[in-house]
Amino acid sequence: MERRGPALLLQLWCVVVLSLSMVLSRKADIILFGGDIITMEDGDLSRDRGKARPLEAVAIAGETIQAVGTLDEVFCHAGSKTQTVYLNQQTLMPGFIEPHTHPTVGAQIREQYITIGAATFSSYEEIRSVMVNRINELAATPNSNGWGAFFGWDPELISDLPALNADVLDGFSDTIPIFVWGQNGHIAWVNHAALRAANITNTTENPIGGTFVKDQDNNPTGKLLELGAIGAVQRVMPPLEPHAFARSLEDLWRIYASAGFTTVADLLYRPNAGLDEALRRSTDAENFPLRLALFRFKQAVRDVDCTDCAAGDAGGIGEYSSRLWEAGIKLIADGSPHSGTSAIREPYLYTPLTETLGFPDPPGYGILNFDTRTLFETVRRYHRQGKKVSIHAHGERANDQVLNVHEQVLAELPNQDNRHRLEHVGLMTEEQIERAGKLNVTLSFFVDHLRFYAKVYKTNIFGDRVNRWTPLSVATKNNITWTIHQDHPAFPGDPSPFANMKTAITRCTRDDPTTPYGPEYRVSIHEALKAYTVNAAWQLHLEDKVGSIQVGKKADLVVLSENPYRVDPFDLERIRVVETFVDGRRNKLARLKTVRGIGTDLHVLESP
Ligand SMILES: *[C@@H]1O[C@H](CO)[C@@H](O)[C@H](O)[C@H]1NC(C)=O
Ligand SMILES: *[C@@H]1O[C@H](CO)[C@@H](O)[C@H](O)[C@H]1NC(C)=O
Ligand SMILES: *[C@@H]1O[C@H](CO)[C@@H](O)[C@H](O)[C@H]1NC(C)=O
Ligand SMILES: *[C@@H]1O[C@H](CO)[C@@H](O)[C@H](O)[C@H]1NC(C)=O
Ligand SMILES: [Zn+2]
Repeated sequence: MERRGPALLLQLWCVVVLSLSMVLSRKADIILFGGDIITMEDGDLSRDRGKARPLEAVAIAGETIQAVGTLDEVFCHAGSKTQTVYLNQQTLMPGFIEPHTHPTVGAQIREQYITIGAATFSSYEEIRSVMVNRINELAATPNSNGWGAFFGWDPELISDLPALNADVLDGFSDTIPIFVWGQNGHIAWVNHAALRAANITNTTENPIGGTFVKDQDNNPTGKLLELGAIGAVQRVMPPLEPHAFARSLEDLWRIYASAGFTTVADLLYRPNAGLDEALRRSTDAENFPLRLALFRFKQAVRDVDCTDCAAGDAGGIGEYSSRLWEAGIKLIADGSPHSGTSAIREPYLYTPLTETLGFPDPPGYGILNFDTRTLFETVRRYHRQGKKVSIHAHGERANDQVLNVHEQVLAELPNQDNRHRLEHVGLMTEEQIERAGKLNVTLSFFVDHLRFYAKVYKTNIFGDRVNRWTPLSVATKNNITWTIHQDHPAFPGDPSPFANMKTAITRCTRDDPTTPYGPEYRVSIHEALKAYTVNAAWQLHLEDKVGSIQVGKKADLVVLSENPYRVDPFDLERIRVVETFVDGRRNKLARLKTVRGIGTDLHVLESP
């Protein structure tokens, strides 16, 4: 393909335009050219080789996209100080937006827990020795106060893991408290020392939004279901120091940026005076490579006994900056398919594996965390305030409940463009999706479960229901602006939007590309890319700011090693993220090689 260089910048008409317009007199800070440019704007057919007017370059002035067009059009904006960046035949597109992930909790896990997940380990023997080593280390440290805290227990992917309970964990230590957190985050197991530390006995009542599982004699078994119960034990663990939290956040920011994200939404933000200051400072730092939208986690709000509601809504991050703000409220209506707690219509299968996973006794229909009245009052409260409410709802029963509540709330007060969202919606039915569309409720799907767990879902948990897991194409049919997310760290491994898009397009597990689960629900690469760009921007009310390459929007961009429209969907994960920009600032993931030119230097973005 013919490529013309920056020498064209002195075209005569360009000079005329420049002298006519003061608006154009601001020179570009950066011009990017020399690769495919995907804008994600409607009507942009840059992926179509037959397009008449190629997009060849993008100019950035300050934080903003100043021009998009042919080399002639864009190099009009070049001045003597403009940095000219050659894309090296790589692909430029809007930075990815992760609509649902967990950096604040993730940063705490990285500091306070030892990973025992399936991304690193494949047998109980390996995991047991990691646990024993940690316990020995604590035992050898006098007055350590430390906990043996482990994250990522995953019997679905590591087949020889035993069933856990307090007695089994006492085998590691009956004096040092031990906490083993399931990979999906909705279940944990603790030993008796941890139960004692948290004062959970045969008379302790269940907390709001959680269950301390007990045996026939009322004794706690050590199994904790849902965040209410898990949090009750975590509260007595040694607190995380702000400096350790900050260091951990910084690592995570690099991980998200390296995956191509320029905006991420944290769906489990809890105000915390000590850690909030560290969070603010971390996003103020010169090298913070993202925007971070927070959804504040709420257990429940009853208007009838809501004396401290206002207190519960105060504090926190608020509208801190254009890079850090609270975007909405998060509620969790049901549990997880991995612990038998997502609230479904037909019972879970019951197998040795579901017993090891800690599923409640059969027949198991899962658990609704809210009574409908409380959920209604909670949603109504924030709907009235014009806030966006995001509700975790996996099973059909949870989705029925949540849609009923939205219908009731809308009957009182019409939609105010809140863009309320449902999260994960694993077993949401086609009828429920249609209903969500009519209620202006938008959806964010956890399709990526299929990549790891589809086979186990089929044989051990749901049977053939796995085929209708997250039917993305039905959302498209109902004109819903939907997204997909990964819920990091609630799956093994690091964030990877291309792995997630691959799952949305192929609906296959990572090790069997020949068996799609529910092939009629597959979507195109174009829809998958929209989910991670324009659609995710819209869900966050950011569509005027980011999500596409358009003049006037913020220059939040990603450079990819290859054009995703030209890669076989099964190979999408081979695409490498070369560089990202946020607010026009390069995050320096790649090296920039300077090539001395005549009159102007050229900067080449090198592949990592
Ligand atoms: C709880 O345990 C104590 C001591 O083991 C026992 O005396 C008491 O009856 C138990 N209470 C219940 C409600 O099971
Ligand atoms: C432990 O819980 C019991 C009731 O469950 C309560 O009476 C007692 O005060 C609690 N103790 C501590 C130290 O929190
Ligand atoms: C959904 O939104 C559209 C467009 O904003 C509006 O016309 C319609 O009334 C809304 N529907 C409900 C049920 O609020
Ligand atoms: C979706 O939108 C298209 C075009 O605007 C319209 O023809 C169709 O009826 C809509 N479908 C639904 C289910 O709303
Ligand atoms: Zn989540």
